[in-house]
Amino acid sequence: MSWNLARRAQQLKPSAIREILKLTERPGIISLAGGLPSPDSFPVDAMAEATARVLREQPREALQYAASEGHAPLREWVAADLARQGLKVAAGQVLITTGSQQGLDLAGKLLIDPGSAVAVEQPSYLGALQAFAPYEPEFHPLAGDDDGPLPAALAAARGARFAYLLPNFQNPSGRCLGAARRDALVAAALQAGVPVLEDNPYGELWFDQPPPPPLAAQLGDQALYLGSFSKVLAPGLRLGYLVAPPALFPKLLQAKQAADLHTPGFNQRVVFEVIKDGFLDQHVPTIRARYRAQRDAMQAALAAHMPPGCRWQMPSGGMFFWVTLPAGLDATALLPRAVEAGVAYVPGAPFFARPEAVGGLAAHTLRLSFVTVAPDRIAQGVAALAGVLRRALEESGPRSARLAPAAAAPQP
Ligand SMILES: Cc1ncc(COP(=O)(O)O)c(C=O)c1O
Repeated sequence: MSWNLARRAQQLKPSAIREILKLTERPGIISLAGGLPSPDSFPVDAMAEATARVLREQPREALQYAASEGHAPLREWVAADLARQGLKVAAGQVLITTGSQQGLDLAGKLLIDPGSAVAVEQPSYLGALQAFAPYEPEFHPLAGDDDGPLPAALAAARGARFAYLLPNFQNPSGRCLGAARRDALVAAALQAGVPVLEDNPYGELWFDQPPPPPLAAQLGDQALYLGSFSKVLAPGLRLGYLVAPPALFPKLLQAKQAADLHTPGFNQRVVFEVIKDGFLDQHVPTIRARYRAQRDAMQAALAAHMPPGCRWQMPSGGMFFWVTLPAGLDATALLPRAVEAGVAYVPGAPFFARPEAVGGLAAHTLRLSFVTVAPDRIAQGVAALAGVLRRALEESGPRSARLAPAAAAPQP
């Protein structure tokens, strides 16, 4: 039987990261590749208690079909929490989604026609590029500098269906936008009339100070905003939310209904039971402290071991370092050698929607996660990676070593 695939199915590509993660399952490999939160941070006891309480006190409601919008008290909690961060929205604008990943798909379904321009950072979250791709957008890469995407580039995206922006501790680059760049991007978006899809799963994972308020706080009805419980509670719950302007909400709800009727009501009730009395105010600081120590270990190891010509910025939150290698080195080609040496990372190239727009930069970037590996193993893994890079530099001779300091600035 030969199946005739829909055109959109041809846009579905195997995830480069999943293929790589398979390699890292080999015993003994120190994996700096994963994008997963630390399982040690999952609040198992609180979840167990809340689950028992929901089954005891509201079993039939929790096990029944439920409203497509989401569990009303959870929507109200989200609206109140966003208000604390400076984003004032009504609970009626909050759609509870099956992970924020579903929010990306729903936004794509609602807003992208084949050939529509969608502006994206370079690099950007691979899962979003994959979610949008079946709707056949024309990705419009936003040029940037060390501080983030350039406001002029956003202004030039006039006519795009939306710009997909990750202001806080971006996946993969770890970069957090400063207040001045946020203001300038907001001004550019307003002036050019470009809607913004703001994705913020990492904002609570700050190490020194909270990031500035969301872009959506200034953009009002020109923004969609995505949040997630994956990084502050547990990703297995598959709970996220999409905040939409009232004009868009009914269509969004219809798309949600068509997709999966509603996000599991049982999970929503359990999570609401866990968080309703301020649990996250105690819990999230413990995640921050854990990740900060791991970030420090990775920063120290990179500084101690990486060969000259490698560049990175220490992230002030989130889960990732983004490393730019000397121009002669290709991170994808070097991965098998790194795995051989006992360490895995994610090459940067798949995170670029339009790698050709950054003149070869994509090939010599890589992402390192610091959250699932203990500090001593981080040091070991980074030392092994540095050894692989040094040998590759020696092999490629003095030419690429000379090129090293001139490596193009990493695009956030
Ligand atoms: C930037 C970004 N957005 C969205 C997601 C999806 O998260 P979830 O569906 O678990 O809420 C992730 C997951 O890693 C992410 O890194």
